[in-house]
Amino acid sequence: MATLHQHDVLIIGTGAAGLSLALHLPAHLRIALICKGQLNEGSTYWAQGGMAAVLHTRDTVNSHVEDTLAAGAGLCHREAVEFTVNNSRRCVEWLVSQGVDFDLREDQHSIEQREFHLTMEGGHSHRRIIHAADRTGRAISEVLTEKAMAADNIQLFPRRVAVDLVVSQGRCQGAYILDRDNERVELFQARAVVLATGGASKAYLYTSNPDGASGDGIAMAWRAGCRVANLEFNQFHPTCLYHPEAKSFLITEAIRGEGGRLLLPDGSRFMQRFDERAELAPRDIVARAIDHEMKRLGADCVFLDISHKPREFLESHFPTITERCAELGIDIAAEPIPVVPAAHYTCGGVVVDTRGRTDLPGLYAIGETSCTGLHGANRMASNSLLECIVYAESAARDIAGSLPGVPAPALARPWDESKVTDSDEDVVISHNWDELRRFMWDYVGIVRTNKRLQRAVHRVELLQAEIAEYYGNYKVSNDLLELRNLAMVAELMIRCAISRRESRGLHYTLDYPGLAPEAVDTILTPGNSTLQAEPHPKPA
Ligand code: FUM
Repeated sequence: MATLHQHDVLIIGTGAAGLSLALHLPAHLRIALICKGQLNEGSTYWAQGGMAAVLHTRDTVNSHVEDTLAAGAGLCHREAVEFTVNNSRRCVEWLVSQGVDFDLREDQHSIEQREFHLTMEGGHSHRRIIHAADRTGRAISEVLTEKAMAADNIQLFPRRVAVDLVVSQGRCQGAYILDRDNERVELFQARAVVLATGGASKAYLYTSNPDGASGDGIAMAWRAGCRVANLEFNQFHPTCLYHPEAKSFLITEAIRGEGGRLLLPDGSRFMQRFDERAELAPRDIVARAIDHEMKRLGADCVFLDISHKPREFLESHFPTITERCAELGIDIAAEPIPVVPAAHYTCGGVVVDTRGRTDLPGLYAIGETSCTGLHGANRMASNSLLECIVYAESAARDIAGSLPGVPAPALARPWDESKVTDSDEDVVISHNWDELRRFMWDYVGIVRTNKRLQRAVHRVELLQAEIAEYYGNYKVSNDLLELRNLAMVAELMIRCAISRRESRGLHYTLDYPGLAPEAVDTILTPGNSTLQAEPHPKPA
């Protein structure tokens, strides 16, 4: 007999967005929180830099709004930007009230005044990044996870991965979820479902993201009939550690905010040749400059030098980076750090409004999974944790207000595995996974061309066909589900990139190097393009 779980709200994802939403919902609602791995493993946990908020006496909401709009290269939705920034101070206060310990100014005398230490990052015209040393995500994640574990109305389900959404009577009514330990797919029913699964940077060979950033929420929403937008805007973080033993290790932009300089292998600076803001130009400009110089010189990496700062300063402000580099034999107080760009953030996603509502009644998307209009063509550093908390709160308010009028879910079909067998060729999954990430890096990377994108579309179509066949014949596993989602989102990214005939923000193509006169979102609608949503639920 298949297991059936029934809750009021099903939240898929336990990063800052999912956890905050759960904690904002009223205590009488029964909430299921689905976590793909163990708790405290996702992208939030690894976020180093911090959260942008208007806290400095000389800073203003208007300034933060204007900086965000400028970084977004004409594609941000002003309403979403103003909504997010207007709520930034309140969200910081909420996190502090939950127990998150942000760094205070060292020269502060009165604890009551709580003057936070604020760092600087690219694109910001003020110091406005609140942080907990270089472990901000960890500080937030640990506190919110602890709160969620202590809440009687919240049930956490680690090591469960969502397969697909259940849609019935025109509403989202739950999801099929794989228990990775007993390998069974269970039915979770709920009156509201929230996708908070993060982004899809694992589509690229080199990424700052932890395993699991496979675009699950974006792919599931698309298959369930929701529009997605602006998926051509993949943000490449300019500075990930370049070392054979370092997988996905970020060197926070705050290092550049504190005076870190980018150097070529011969020790010379180069960023001032690309932008007057030099190392503090927005990320797209810095990543492209590094990519250009590496290709020009045939260099494997460039270097980030912060060694002019005192050792004590580095150890207290950047303990994670100091320690990790030391483990790998790099003394950041004495020598420059080898760095390369890597895929970091998915700026597009599932189209939502300011309440996090998607096109499908009962389905919400928040955080990196969503496209709110905040980031436009290029996310400004540290705006994303803020977006997670702001939209978690507004979606929670909307869910709490609308649930009384939502009927209990209809009876759904249990997952049918009668016609599938155990896979005897897992190599198909690992091979396709590698192939996908490599051609995405080579053909849909920092600099694009029509030819490269056409090559990528052919590759991804072949992969999609092979994966669909495999999915139809074999039992699902975490790796298969991630590959299926990643290939789906990669195809959406490529389609978005092909349809943008200009260079804007993070999308740079040699075939259309200039800006089009009008800034227009790329919106894909299931069924309205050459991409069709797969039948749902899984064909048996
Ligand atoms: O560089 C960083 O610490 C990253 C910040 C961000 O992606 O917002």
